[in-house]
Amino acid sequence: MAQPADRIDELVDLTNRVFRSNGGDMGREYPLVFDPGNPEGMRVVLEEGKIVSHVGVCIRDAALLGVPLRVASIGAVCTDPNFRGRGFAGSLMEDAIAYARSKDAHVMLISGDRSLYRRLGGLRAGTFHFTEAAHEELPQGLALDEAGEDDIPDLAALYSREPVRFVRPAEDWKRLLEAGMLMNRAATCWLVRDSERALAYVAVQTPTSRSSGDDRPNVMEYAGSREAAWTGMKALAGRYGSASVRISLMPDDLDLLGRANREGLPVHQSGFHGTVRLLNVAETLDRVKTLWIERAGQSTVDALEWEADAEGLSYASDEGRVRLEGAEATAAIFGPERSQENPPAIPGMEPLPLFWYGYNYV
Ligand SMILES: CC(C)(COP(=O)(O)OP(=O)(O)OC[C@H]1O[C@@H](n2cnc3c(N)ncnc32)[C@H](O)[C@@H]1OP(=O)(O)O)[C@@H](O)C(=O)NCCC(=O)NCCS
Repeated sequence: MAQPADRIDELVDLTNRVFRSNGGDMGREYPLVFDPGNPEGMRVVLEEGKIVSHVGVCIRDAALLGVPLRVASIGAVCTDPNFRGRGFAGSLMEDAIAYARSKDAHVMLISGDRSLYRRLGGLRAGTFHFTEAAHEELPQGLALDEAGEDDIPDLAALYSREPVRFVRPAEDWKRLLEAGMLMNRAATCWLVRDSERALAYVAVQTPTSRSSGDDRPNVMEYAGSREAAWTGMKALAGRYGSASVRISLMPDDLDLLGRANREGLPVHQSGFHGTVRLLNVAETLDRVKTLWIERAGQSTVDALEWEADAEGLSYASDEGRVRLEGAEATAAIFGPERSQENPPAIPGMEPLPLFWYGYNYV
């Protein structure tokens, strides 16, 4: 494995050949991966002196209901077509896990679902909600403006109030707005303001009718006042000339989930937008334990007498000690795959919400 500090152009060229044969530029679209300031995050295999395989690792701090966790996001995974099937991507994924662990990351988010990731313990954990709302004019007194670099302090202040979020430095905001991408599609970020201040922002993938014929705008991240965000989203449908807007609800957003239900809107569910893997079960449990103590009580948590290591945990039950390993431990903490029968669970411990990529998608 090597870090291509001075060979980013060659690496971007490989990823463009694999992912952008119809145009586009991965280097411009994914500034958090192809970051000259962080060559360590670009894990590559060289063959005959050429970069032939890549796994991008982007490590950021995050907050889960106030609990600090570190997240390693994996993206732009590819192997030159002439070098596939030789185990290069597999060994780079193992290397990425070791690297992320060396940086004390707790959770790995992988922007794909395939055997390469499942063999290493990834699964589509958790539950996310989606809805659709019809266009409505923006109420009097509110304005909807495209956000730019000058708005970063407002955007960051709104995002920092989200209960389940990445820690996104202003430098990341700048690069992400410049890239104009949101979860692998071109996007625009809109601020909803009243005469005094920025109340919310709504980030929308630009509609394309190319594949499904569906040209509705797609809200893939929002933050701030739910009242303002909701009215802003509905008004945006009109901006894009669409009768309705599709909305990915942010994790743990009881306000908009409740509102969608009350308004009789369709609410769909899905698992994580890719696969998830815990990198260190013991340290993750150590951090999130406070949330379970608050919910279930100290004595209930104590009674489990759990013992954990990096790969799994065991707890006391009436049938003796139960061990949950790898993907089972991830499912017990963040919720199982939706199709899973008899999903693994830690008795009395409700699964916790999982991070949503939004602008941190790589
Ligand atoms: C996916 C990709 C990166 C794999 O690269 P690679 O270097 O050929 O990967 P490997 O040789 O390590 O593994 C190839 C396959 O064999 C499987 N494999 C490897 N060892 C195995 C084993 N012992 N038993 C069973 N399967 C095995 C891997 O799981 C992988 O399966 P998948 O491609 O269905 O996920 C490559 O095909 C590619 O660039 N594809 C296009 C881009 C892409 O789709 N990237 C992934 C985005 S989510």
